[in-house]
Amino acid sequence: MAYSFRHLIEHKRDGGVLRSGEIRWIIAEYTNEHLPDYQMAAMLMAIFKEGLDGHELEVWTDAMLHSGQVMDLSHIDAPKVDKHSTGGVGDKVSIPLAPMVAACGAAVPMMSGRGLGHTGGTVDKLESIPGFRTQLTPDEFASIVEKTGLVLAGQSESLAPADGAIYSLRDATGSVPSIPLIASSIMSKKLAVGLGALVLDVKVGRGAFMKTLDRARLLAETIVGIGKTHGTPVVAVLTDMNQPLGRMVGNANEIAESVEVLRGGGARDLVEVVYRLGEEMLMLAGVESERADARTRLEKAVASGAAFEKLEQVTIAQGGDPAVLHDPSLLPMAENEHVVIARESGYVVRVDAFDIGTAALRLGAGRERKEDAIDPAVGIAIEVKVGDEVTAGQPLARLRWNDEGRLANALPITESAFEVSEHLGTPLVYGEVR
Ligand code: URA
Repeated sequence: MAYSFRHLIEHKRDGGVLRSGEIRWIIAEYTNEHLPDYQMAAMLMAIFKEGLDGHELEVWTDAMLHSGQVMDLSHIDAPKVDKHSTGGVGDKVSIPLAPMVAACGAAVPMMSGRGLGHTGGTVDKLESIPGFRTQLTPDEFASIVEKTGLVLAGQSESLAPADGAIYSLRDATGSVPSIPLIASSIMSKKLAVGLGALVLDVKVGRGAFMKTLDRARLLAETIVGIGKTHGTPVVAVLTDMNQPLGRMVGNANEIAESVEVLRGGGARDLVEVVYRLGEEMLMLAGVESERADARTRLEKAVASGAAFEKLEQVTIAQGGDPAVLHDPSLLPMAENEHVVIARESGYVVRVDAFDIGTAALRLGAGRERKEDAIDPAVGIAIEVKVGDEVTAGQPLARLRWNDEGRLANALPITESAFEVSEHLGTPLVYGEVR
């Protein structure tokens, strides 16, 4: 049955409820390129404003999930567990985490996303490894996870294609931070690969799509609920995204930092989140029942080199050049560097993740329009964390850039991302009203 898309948009815009047949028609027709982007963008904005009720969300997610093939990995004996983030700045957690968990005996069929808005995406980061293919056919996806216990892919023409199309449209039209749109995006691609269980990293704070704990909790509950409907256990962990995670923000530079974690190093906050989520994954998969044992297992996988070897195996299996993992200086890196310095001495009280993510996007690490290519070689190294003491003249951030106009556009927001104060900690008095 054909509907008037204009009428459906108006209906949603005015607070109406979409019926199951209408939702399935919208998703199928848009995936098959029978509906124009401008109308779909308007529908997404109407949903952003008006939301979806429980039944609409269930049908919307199911229609996206069935927009392509749904895989069956039940022939793989190992327990299958995946992890997904709702999106952050410097959030490269999946890249060290997935090989660590795979090295501990679980199978990780990971289906990730590209950068969205000011946040980076695992798929874009992985593609900065020369040759690394993230667009896999369902057969390739299944055979790589069977062989290596791990696969790191993006949605494709055959797997959750509706998410691919809607994701980039939302990115370019400002309709990302919507609970039903994020929940359906994540769960449609996760359920399409037949995973056994999912650990969800719900980011909260300035650099996240959910700015408050209440909104983050609601998103977590929504996704856990979709998991329950589909018989897939989901555990959500709420983690801080007020300042960027780790030190690197970009693409190739985040691969280098991920390798550091697999070598036993890495920034404390990044390492902490990686291990916390790893513990949840091993417990949810039934590999360990106690958190402390899960932690020890993960630590051993890193110390023995087994986790690094997993990343190497999957890189080779997906066509990437493993030499860059052994020597990250071979990764693309812009030659030009601009250093932002502290203008005064004191304590760092703010490193704004949203501003830093926006600055990285302006340098070319993300997309302004859906057809934009990203530059894997540009990015920002953050030299300080909140609470650090700095002296005037000390570097706060190093920007790697390739285009002078882009640098000029990124600099003011990078500089204003940092706040240095005489006093440590958040102020007790926020302001006054007379
Ligand atoms: N991650 C996704 O996969 N989708 C979203 O909409 C946001 C984060």
